[in-house]
Amino acid sequence: MKTDLLKFTDQGGCSAKIPPAQLEEVLKNLPIPVDPDILVNIDTHDDAGVYRINNDLALVLTTDFFPPVCSDPYEFGQIAAANSISDVYAMGGNPVLALNIMMFPAGRLPMEAYSEILRGGFDKASEAGVKIIGGHTIDDAVPKYGLAVTGFVNPSLLVTNAGARPGDWLILTKPVGTGIIMAGHRLGMASDADLEEAKLWMKMLNRSGAAIMTNHSVTGATDITGFGLAGHAIKMARASKVSLSINMRNVPLISKTLSLADDGCLPGACFTNLDYCESETDFSDNLDYSLKMIAFDAQTSGGLLISAPAGTGEKMVAELKEAGLTCTAIIGNVSSYNGKLLYLDN
Ligand code: CO
Ligand code: CO
Repeated sequence: MKTDLLKFTDQGGCSAKIPPAQLEEVLKNLPIPVDPDILVNIDTHDDAGVYRINNDLALVLTTDFFPPVCSDPYEFGQIAAANSISDVYAMGGNPVLALNIMMFPAGRLPMEAYSEILRGGFDKASEAGVKIIGGHTIDDAVPKYGLAVTGFVNPSLLVTNAGARPGDWLILTKPVGTGIIMAGHRLGMASDADLEEAKLWMKMLNRSGAAIMTNHSVTGATDITGFGLAGHAIKMARASKVSLSINMRNVPLISKTLSLADDGCLPGACFTNLDYCESETDFSDNLDYSLKMIAFDAQTSGGLLISAPAGTGEKMVAELKEAGLTCTAIIGNVSSYNGKLLYLDN
């Protein structure tokens, strides 16, 4: 019988994150290490930590792992690796080395599934030029996989979620909707073809997006994962001390997303994320309910949200599309802090 990893979990991918409000409650009691060479720490809730080695070189350190997002072990490995590596790209870094992190129900899943997950991770890491040089596995009821990734960045080219500036345009490089599509597929509301489309985006590295934003001297970006487009936009706005405005009509969506949302297919993570963001968000009176909820859909291995100087925005979009990020769009803009961190309109 063919292995189906989804039999082991209700909450796959980045939607399995601890709700952000609870996470912040726990983290706020932990001391933050002080060291002038720590360039980015947990304080700004950025994608990765950054540590300066010298004036030309800093390390970018990050880890991500999650339960299966799809039935096939090899594809799960690919998606989990692409997602883990993405946090280095979101900082403008070049990912170099990684360690496997694996939880696996030995005895309940064939060992072949174990090696297929690792093979998927290895192939995706190789595509990114990342060498996996070790790892750790424990026996656990629900399989989980990801990487701890180390990258390099020149400190002067570092991109953070604190770098958005008033007047910037907001560019999104991948369509939104992976959480809704995966839920829809489980419920029999989305077809295999719809799921294939979502998996294609989840497997895609954010490498070309990162290279293009670095070429244009962008200073602000993040990647869109478990807290959804709105959640990560709010983190960026808070870290940058600005307000972000997003027009949901301009947000690229995976084909079936809007019709699934219209039919009520909204995973629980949409509501958890909305809960966390509601007090910091202004919803325009005419905002369509489905588009509003899509903004909070937990993404797995989502695209980069880039804050680009207005002058370079259009050129960047053209280059990103040419590089295969065909759905790239300008979805909003940045202004001085205006009372709310995020303004959602359509
Ligand atoms: Co991230
Ligand atoms: Co992450």
